Amino acid sequence: MNASMLSGRAVRERILGLLDAPPAVPDFSAGYLDLLPPGEEAAPSIAQRVMESAFLPQIYERVWRPVGFNLAKGWPLGPDTAQEHALARAWLGLGADRPDANVLDVACGPGNVTRALAAGTGEDGLVVGLDVAEGMLARAARDTADPRVGYVRGDAVDLPFRDGTFDAVCCFGALYLIDDPWRALDGMVRVLRPGGRLVVLTSRRPGLPLSRLGGRAIAEVSGVRLFGDGEITGFLRASGFEDIRRRRYAAMQMVGATRT
Ligand SMILES: C[S@@+](CC[C@H](N)C(=O)[O-])C[C@H]1O[C@@H](n2cnc3c(N)ncnc32)[C@H](O)[C@@H]1O
Repeated sequence: MNASMLSGRAVRERILGLLDAPPAVPDFSAGYLDLLPPGEEAAPSIAQRVMESAFLPQIYERVWRPVGFNLAKGWPLGPDTAQEHALARAWLGLGADRPDANVLDVACGPGNVTRALAAGTGEDGLVVGLDVAEGMLARAARDTADPRVGYVRGDAVDLPFRDGTFDAVCCFGALYLIDDPWRALDGMVRVLRPGGRLVVLTSRRPGLPLSRLGGRAIAEVSGVRLFGDGEITGFLRASGFEDIRRRRYAAMQMVGATRT
């Protein structure tokens, strides 16, 4: 048995130890822990159907993500992907001070942000990427050799982890796709330990006349929800978070906070 097989086994054991109800026979056969029945996907909106296509995972990280997100962040004024990752690590408090942090990356897609978060943890850190889409997770598992990273197929609206498990929770580029984003956020709060940090990168509805109406129409047709200024920060304040910070971009917003 080689070293990477040993480290793969160690990360799997660690992930099983974080679960609320570990399965009697864990299924890691596709390279990630599968906690959902075969074929079960999230709400069938147009946007989520695209996420679950076989094609998108092949071009997501190199083309779709940088082009789409950089435009939505107001390129060239907004942060590029590397700056966005650095900000996420900083707001989550990862780095030399917390080398052994347990981090959850909700709706991790092909693991692009998950791996960037792992770059901020030490040898004893653990970063768990969770997503519902099999194609995305297969790509994530294929592209990840980092022994601190493991993947779980599960639903962001019903996170399978114990309360207070994680030091840091990240959810980038996904809250607007989730049919019940407030329940998903409630779950992220639940799995975060007191003092732990949350960071979210999501859509932003520009504060223009009729934009609320337009936002509703976009959500109806595509399944992409546009969050108003103050919606996410308001939720976090009401959930007892402190040190709430936000950066506004053209059509996106990044929000970070610490759980009290
Ligand atoms: C645009 S990708 C984001 C990937 C990565 N976090 C990033 O920032 O580039 C959105 C991901 O959210 C996932 N997703 C949507 N609804 C979900 C849900 N209810 N539970 C878990 N994942 C979900 C999709 O499958 C997709 O992989």
